[in-house]
Amino acid sequence: MNKEIVLSGIRPTGNLHLGNYFGALSKFVRLQDDYDCRFFIADLHALTTNTDPDALHANVKGILAEYLAAGIDPEKAAIFVQSDVPEISELYLLLNMHVGIGELMRTASFKDKARKCLGIGKDACETEEEIEHQIIGADNNKRVCAGLLTYPTLMAVDILIQKAKYVPVGKDQLQHLELTRRFARRFNSFYGVEEFIEPEDFNFGGKPVKVPGLDGSGKMGKSEGNCIYLIDDPKVIRKKVMRAVTDQGPTEPNSPISEPIANLLGLMELTSSPETVQQFRDAYADCSIRYGDLKKQLAEDIVALTDPIRQRINDILANDEYLRKVLARGAEVAREQASKTLAEVRQIMGIRHF
Ligand code: TYM
Repeated sequence: MNKEIVLSGIRPTGNLHLGNYFGALSKFVRLQDDYDCRFFIADLHALTTNTDPDALHANVKGILAEYLAAGIDPEKAAIFVQSDVPEISELYLLLNMHVGIGELMRTASFKDKARKCLGIGKDACETEEEIEHQIIGADNNKRVCAGLLTYPTLMAVDILIQKAKYVPVGKDQLQHLELTRRFARRFNSFYGVEEFIEPEDFNFGGKPVKVPGLDGSGKMGKSEGNCIYLIDDPKVIRKKVMRAVTDQGPTEPNSPISEPIANLLGLMELTSSPETVQQFRDAYADCSIRYGDLKKQLAEDIVALTDPIRQRINDILANDEYLRKVLARGAEVAREQASKTLAEVRQIMGIRHF
């Protein structure tokens, strides 16, 4: 029986952190035995915000090593680099003909990244219109590139070209997945075909994952400076966790848990045993909690998870020959499906040979 196709990717914009690990990578590893998995490195997406060629090149290799070190087995799952599949770029051009600039401009990630590109603080624009006004009026030194606007089209193409049914991602990517479904539906109904499959998120029946940062609020993110990286040395991890934001501590039994503490307990839920988490929840409830103990425990549990991965990353990075082979095989698998889908779409849209 043919297995259902799973596809997901990560942008090579730096080392992977615990957000990437729990939102995506750890799910990739769990899925590879039961599905036809394709995991890629989204280098074209990285170009929308990263214009340093050497950094991009190094980051692609880094993510590949991190994929392998975390346990993706290239014998089970195809691993490829997005730009090694040129069919993606052509379908991106074609699909863009059916995507509205208005819906792209309203995407949360676009507004957020555009704001960062223009150096506008989170609270500087009161209304949506003000942000749009700033984007349109931006001068050439601080422009928001068109690639950033059409980012969701490219992401939709990554998924639709592989005919993927499931897309394991973190909570922050759900809007992109919703747009992918919308574009697929629109294309199918415009041409009266059933070309594209509407993909779904995958969380093993649980809630979408949002890994919090160590700074008391929001999510862990490369650009937020609140991350623990898989490649961090144990000493660095201990230091980062011990410095995490907390509060004054509960003064009355069963008080509500503040955001910074809820975040630390949330991280603990991902890395520690359920008994450990319960022990600290109970201690919070009866006011006996000591945040120093909580942080020490959390740091050790994170180190136990990341340290074997970190050690494997360094070994894998030294083996260029192996890395090249993994990517060549992955690109072959990805291109086989991509060229088929592209040929069908060209035919459907009227780009036909005489
Ligand atoms: P990217 O590179 O920003 O992140 C990669 C994956 O990590 C997840 N993630 C998180 N999950 C939970 N909590 C966090 N704090 C956290 N931070 C990051 C993201 O949700 C994501 O799953 N657009 C995508 C890359 C992409 C893609 C695709 C994904 C391009 N094409 C096709 C799936 C399918 C992105 O920028 O992810």
